[in-house]
This record gives sequence, structure tokens and C-alpha cells, in this order.
Amino acid sequence: MKRWKHHVSSYFSERATQWVAFYADAEPRTIITQNLNSRQRFTLELVEAAIPASSKILDAGCGSGVTAAKLMQRGYTVWGIDLAEPMIRQARELCGTDQFGVGDIEHIPFADNTFDGVVSLGVIEYQESDEQALREIHRVLSPGGRAVIAIPNGRSPVRRMDDVVLRVVAVLRSAYYIVKYRLRGRPAPVRGIPAGPVGRRFHRERWLLLLRRLGFEPEELICHGWGWFRSPLGRLVQPLFKTRTVFRRGIERLFGRALVSRISGRLVRSRARNWLAAEQIVRVRAIKEEIGGVVMRNQQLGLHAGPVAPIEGVFRP
Ligand SMILES: C[S@@+](CC[C@H](N)C(=O)[O-])C[C@H]1O[C@@H](n2cnc3c(N)ncnc32)[C@H](O)[C@@H]1O
Repeated sequence: MKRWKHHVSSYFSERATQWVAFYADAEPRTIITQNLNSRQRFTLELVEAAIPASSKILDAGCGSGVTAAKLMQRGYTVWGIDLAEPMIRQARELCGTDQFGVGDIEHIPFADNTFDGVVSLGVIEYQESDEQALREIHRVLSPGGRAVIAIPNGRSPVRRMDDVVLRVVAVLRSAYYIVKYRLRGRPAPVRGIPAGPVGRRFHRERWLLLLRRLGFEPEELICHGWGWFRSPLGRLVQPLFKTRTVFRRGIERLFGRALVSRISGRLVRSRARNWLAAEQIVRVRAIKEEIGGVVMRNQQLGLHAGPVAPIEGVFRP
């Protein structure tokens, strides 16, 4: 395994239990749990709007299987792969099936045209580049099949502020260590936990261009979430998010949850404000026009693929 992948895999392996807990909070209180839960909610909406129940879906980079479990509850047949073995153990336990296995999104261990849908949330940014993973998603999708992919938004001002704060904190910390230890000739203690892998960010126009070039037709784009803090900024902003949650609940009580959900559904699709959000989720359709030398329209090809056939010797559920 390449060094980078190894780093990603060990980082997430250590966080498998924590990952389940992130989703367990029925009333998400921290920014990260709010973001993960809203990502899941919008993903389920995007899937259900375009992929019929009982279709076959692959969750590529499934983590602890929480989204896969929700898809199963909605009648989909779900397979999952993840680089981190402890995540797969959690996913199998949660989903009660061995259709989850260790696997790499850049070499998906399934045959061409296997799935009606692929879901991949917060995974592509951890690859060294985008293309190989996207080509693999395209390959395993049946003609006209859908992929729902979540990636960080490169324009988000909150993410940028987070970067600046991280840099300032790093400089201040180094200065503190120099003054406290080096200048006084004292041995310095070992510093902190090594940093985790940093996910790459994506600009909407370039991202959509890349998807089109690789044979995907973008259908819907949603931007959601107001921060994904790696710096202490998160702790400062947290009270604002709590206030916002209380405010939202009050509005829901006054006007009804359905109306508030409808309005927030409109807002996450509004180009005028969604460049501010921390993350983008896109639903795309795989265009595969040529079959046996005959060019066909995707509508003619139909959505449903044949039986799922893992490639021998690679995928060991
Ligand atoms: C941020 S977590 C998201 C997990 C899950 N999709 C979710 O939304 O809860 C990223 C996951 O992608 C997995 N991952 C990263 N690179 C991968 C790769 N090349 N192939 C498969 N999984 C990968 C990690 O192990 C981790 O579980």
C-alpha cells in the first residue's frame, strides 16, 4: 500500500468507534456531528429522488456503515468498501451483513456495470488525485446509474478562516516552545499527536468540468454545513451553532417542521448563498453510450444492472 493511503487508512482505523458515535447523537450538538448528519440527510434525499428502492448501491468509503444502514432501511441492497478494516468491522456489525469488505475506491473490487448507484461521502478528497476514483465509480455503475458524491467546498470562507487560524496557532506554538525550552537550554517534551491527513478541497466549476469529462452528467448540486473546524475556531463558534439550533427549533414549532425543511432544501440549492457552505454534494448520472458498438441513449438502456459479482480474490466479505 502506498504511504499516503497507509496514512489515511491508519488515521481512520483509529477513529472507527468515534465515527459511529458521531452519528448516534439524535440532536447533533457539535459542528462535526451537525455536518455529518446533514450530509447524510441530503444524501438520502438525493438517492431516493433518483434511484428506485431495491436497487443495488455501493457505498465506496463506507466508514462505519451508518449511511449504508439507512439506505438498507429504505429498501436498497447495499455493498460497502473501505480502506480501514476497523470501519468495515463496525459496518458489518451495524448492517448485519457481510456485504462489506476492505477495498480501495481507486481499484473497486467489482465488475463493470454492477451497481445502480454509488454513494461516496467524504472520501475522494483523501485520494492523491480525483480521476482514478471517479473512473472506478463510473466503471462499476450501470449505464444511467447514479453516483452521489460529497466533497469539501474550496470556496467556503469558514474553511479558509479555519486554515488561517491553524497557521497562526502553529506559529504561536513554535514561538512558545522556542522561548520556553530552546532559549533556556531545556529538553522539550514530545509535541502533540501527529496531524491527520488533510482532505483536498474542490471548486465547483472545475469539479463539474472534471465530472463531465469523465462521463458523468451532473443532475443536482447541494451545498451544506457551516464549518468543518480543525482549528480552535470551532470551539469559539460552537455557541453560535447551538443558538442557531435553538432558533431553528423555535421556528419549526411555529411554522412546522415540513415547511422549514422545504425552505432549507431550497436554500442548499441556491447558488447565491451556497458558495459559503463547507461541503458540496453532487448527484451525477453515468453516461455510457456505447454497448456492442451500438450507440444507445441511457433511457433505452434502463437503470437496473445484473447480479452483483465481486471480482474473485480481491473482495473477501
Ligand atoms: C471522512 S470518512 C467518511 C466515512 C463515511 N463515508 C461517512 O460519510 O460517514 C472517510 C472514509 O473514507 C475511507 N477511505 C479513504 N480513502 C479510501 C480509499 N482509497 N478507498 C476506500 N476507502 C477510503 C476512510 O477509511 C474513511 O472511512
